[in-house]
Amino acid sequence: MPAVTGPGLRITGWGTALPDKVVTNADLEATLDTSDTWIVERTGIRQRHIGGTTAGLAAEAGAAALARAGLTGADIDVVVLATSTPDQAMPGSSAHVHELLGIRGGAFDVNAACSGFVYALVVGAGLVATGSRRVLVIGSDTMSRITDWDDRSTAILFADGAGALVLEATEGPGGLLSYDLGADGTSRGLLYAEVGGFMLMEGRELFRRAVRAMVDSAQACLAEAGVGVDQVSLLVPHQANIRIIEAAASRLGIDLDRAATVLDRTGNTSAGSIPLALVDALDHGRLAPGDLVLLCGFGAGMTTASALVRWDGTAPGAPS
Ligand code: ACO
Repeated sequence: MPAVTGPGLRITGWGTALPDKVVTNADLEATLDTSDTWIVERTGIRQRHIGGTTAGLAAEAGAAALARAGLTGADIDVVVLATSTPDQAMPGSSAHVHELLGIRGGAFDVNAACSGFVYALVVGAGLVATGSRRVLVIGSDTMSRITDWDDRSTAILFADGAGALVLEATEGPGGLLSYDLGADGTSRGLLYAEVGGFMLMEGRELFRRAVRAMVDSAQACLAEAGVGVDQVSLLVPHQANIRIIEAAASRLGIDLDRAATVLDRTGNTSAGSIPLALVDALDHGRLAPGDLVLLCGFGAGMTTASALVRWDGTAPGAPS
């Protein structure tokens, strides 16, 4: 998969959204045969946010990203929304985001489940490379709407949330250095939801395949850019299970203190998870200009997606 050449891009804005309602493990203990101890030990999750709509959360995250970039929706050429929980079968939830944010240009959805945000980022970078000046990339999911709250195997994991980045064309090099997109359609039965139905998941097998898929994808992405793992300042993995993150980071040779995690507070927010973790790292001052960031997702499909980004960190018009 490609190392990226051609016009560069800068990430000039970023934002997130989480519903107000917090559901703790203790809350789930009241309705499910589970325990806080089991959930924390097996997943690392302590609480999650539940509520809202996919378009509503997406628009909130998108508005925050636009504000940080000093832009409005009228400045955006295309909004790309990654989601596998659209609010309607048709049109894409990106159409609602288009309305809510007053976007000027095009709008479409990308469905690659939990890998969706990285897929959308790559698509957004492609749009910039082919002439778009400003692209808003959002990952937003309301997994609670396709979760069977009587099924302890999934109800403890999934939640709602969104994150967004503004991509702007730049004359210089930079931005997205390389990417790797993959899928194994023969594994699509490991996690799926029929239209109008709840998610069904074979967790143990997914776990096993997820670690291998993340490591392979991350290594392919780094190899394309000719970058060694020691040069990566921050790994931003999909937030599904802390044990998956630990195993993948360890096999990659990346210490956990170089990995961004928010899942203890957010659970698995699918396409929202990687930007939520990235923005949390930014808010905690964990990235400096020039740093290399490796985004790495896996999800239903089974999809995998990695992207290597050189962090620029400057945002024209950003509030200080
Ligand atoms: N509470 C208490 N006990 C439980 C629970 C629960 N919520 N769930 C399962 N158990 C029990 C099982 O019944 C089993 O009991 P037994 O030993 O008596 O048979 C025991 O705990 C162990 O069950 P496992 O399924 O082997 O537990 P595991 O350690 O694999 O953890 C989990 C399960 C958390 C689901 C893990 O397999 C996982 O995280 N898998 C990956 C899931 C994932 O990442 N999905 C998202 C994909 S991304 C996307 O696209 C949305």
